Amino acid sequence: MAHHIVFFSLVTLALCNLALAFEPSPLQDFCVADSTSSARLNGLACKNPMNVQADDFFFSGLNIMGNTSNPVGSKVTPVTVAQLPGLNTLGISIVRIDYAPWGINPPHTHPRATEILTVLEGSVQVGFVTSNPENRLISKVLQKGDVFVFPVGLVHFQRNVGYGNAVAIAALSSQNPGVITIANAVFGSNPPIAADLLAKAFQVKTSVVDQLQSTF
Ligand SMILES: *[C@@H]1O[C@H](CO)[C@@H](O)[C@H](O)[C@H]1NC(C)=O
Repeated sequence: MAHHIVFFSLVTLALCNLALAFEPSPLQDFCVADSTSSARLNGLACKNPMNVQADDFFFSGLNIMGNTSNPVGSKVTPVTVAQLPGLNTLGISIVRIDYAPWGINPPHTHPRATEILTVLEGSVQVGFVTSNPENRLISKVLQKGDVFVFPVGLVHFQRNVGYGNAVAIAALSSQNPGVITIANAVFGSNPPIAADLLAKAFQVKTSVVDQLQSTF
């Protein structure tokens, strides 16, 4: 009997930990974000459901190509809870990614979401790196219609390896996945991280860090 209680306690504990690793389940049909509320909570306050309209669950524009005229040659057009208030509490969002020829979506991580991506046009090299100590690179070239998944939290990237434009659509398992772009976070923080600290971390001369910090 005592064994059973211990076993069920462990199972319950394991299930609770599993649930806590993802966004909480909704406790009602929907909770459309109320942008006028000043309430501070995990997520956003709900609009009165009586005032909810179809447009609260709607976004238009993912047919429009993003402007890739920038140093990395890619553009992410997000549709998260910030653009689509009906996503509040639902644990899901979508983005369009445009790539100029040889454009990259630089190494970055989403602290709150797994990402599943499909290529609509072009050839896209994708990759992610496993955590310490292996830091194994898992990479593949995708063609139109191919699908790839980036597990939550892992550093990942994409690159257009074709001579035309490329387009991908990705879904993310959070209403607000967050993005940490490695280069910007490390070399472009405000205020900056001490250059001698980064020189030691990256095992380079401080002048190399100075150059990176002036770029980001
Ligand atoms: C694209 O972005 C570049 C750089 O910001 C800008 O100069 C250009 O006008 C933009 N093009 C369009 C079509 O908006």
